[in-house]
Amino acid sequence: MRQLAPTYAADVDLVTAYAHPPGLARPWVRANMVSSADGSAVLNGRAEGLSSPPDQHVFRLLRGLADAVLVGAGTARIEGYRALEAKPEYAELRASLGQRPAPVLVVVSRRLVLDPDSKLFHGGAQRTVVVTVSDADPGRRAALESVADVIIAGEQSVDVTAALASLAERGLLRVLCEGGPHLLAGVTAAGHLDELCLTISPQLVGGDARRILAGAPVDVPLALGHLLEADGVLLARYVRARGQPSPAP
Ligand SMILES: NC(=O)c1ccc[n+]([C@@H]2O[C@H](COP(=O)([O-])OP(=O)(O)OC[C@H]3O[C@@H](n4cnc5c(N)ncnc54)[C@H](OP(=O)(O)O)[C@@H]3O)[C@@H](O)[C@H]2O)c1
Repeated sequence: MRQLAPTYAADVDLVTAYAHPPGLARPWVRANMVSSADGSAVLNGRAEGLSSPPDQHVFRLLRGLADAVLVGAGTARIEGYRALEAKPEYAELRASLGQRPAPVLVVVSRRLVLDPDSKLFHGGAQRTVVVTVSDADPGRRAALESVADVIIAGEQSVDVTAALASLAERGLLRVLCEGGPHLLAGVTAAGHLDELCLTISPQLVGGDARRILAGAPVDVPLALGHLLEADGVLLARYVRARGQPSPAP
């Protein structure tokens, strides 16, 4: 993988390139998304169709660096998410950073249409966390409480600020948001997006497929942190532009 910006480098140390700011005192929310060259977030209804070996490599690394992987229930259902296992290749790095062996999977859902017997809740290194609302169905909530830690944040829609504060109380500051577009729009609208890692896949999709943010319009300027390239796949790391501070949860 080579770096095209901010300077050219024929090879790049990805752990350094994607390192979090040191000494975090508040949640740092990094999103990781993939898009086609014409801006689609899906191919045949899934993000997986846009992925590639370079994207998968960075995808795994970003999980390896995270305390928590935050995902919307829509994506968890469609992409077949599972509770997260510890990966031996990141064990030493995580230990050196004082992190648990694996990130915690955090699923955001209002309706709680999630199967308690599914792999979302079994086989991971840690209990999955479900973030939901006080209006959620009590029966579904009780069923999920037997297999997951359930956090209530908000009444009808998950309050991202409250959710991040609850994760921070659990020591989960390096938050990796893997979408989908509705959740990412909510995180961004609430002012909590610090960083966007965006893979641009060299393909056209056309149609009217959704983009990486869905929902109400936002206006968030970004600055390019770096741009990497491998096999024609572009991997950009954007950070929130100056003057756009993230509110403390
Ligand atoms: N290109 C990419 O990088 C990428 C990444 C991820 C996903 N995707 C694609 O995006 C599509 C899914 O899109 P999506 O926007 O529906 O996904 P999503 O944001 O993962 O899921 C939406 C669902 O998440 C829950 N949710 C999100 N924000 C919430 C909030 N503030 N409060 C309460 N619940 C909240 C709700 O779940 P309940 O319905 O359970 O209440 C909502 O229906 C899939 O086709 C997937 O493949 C693409």
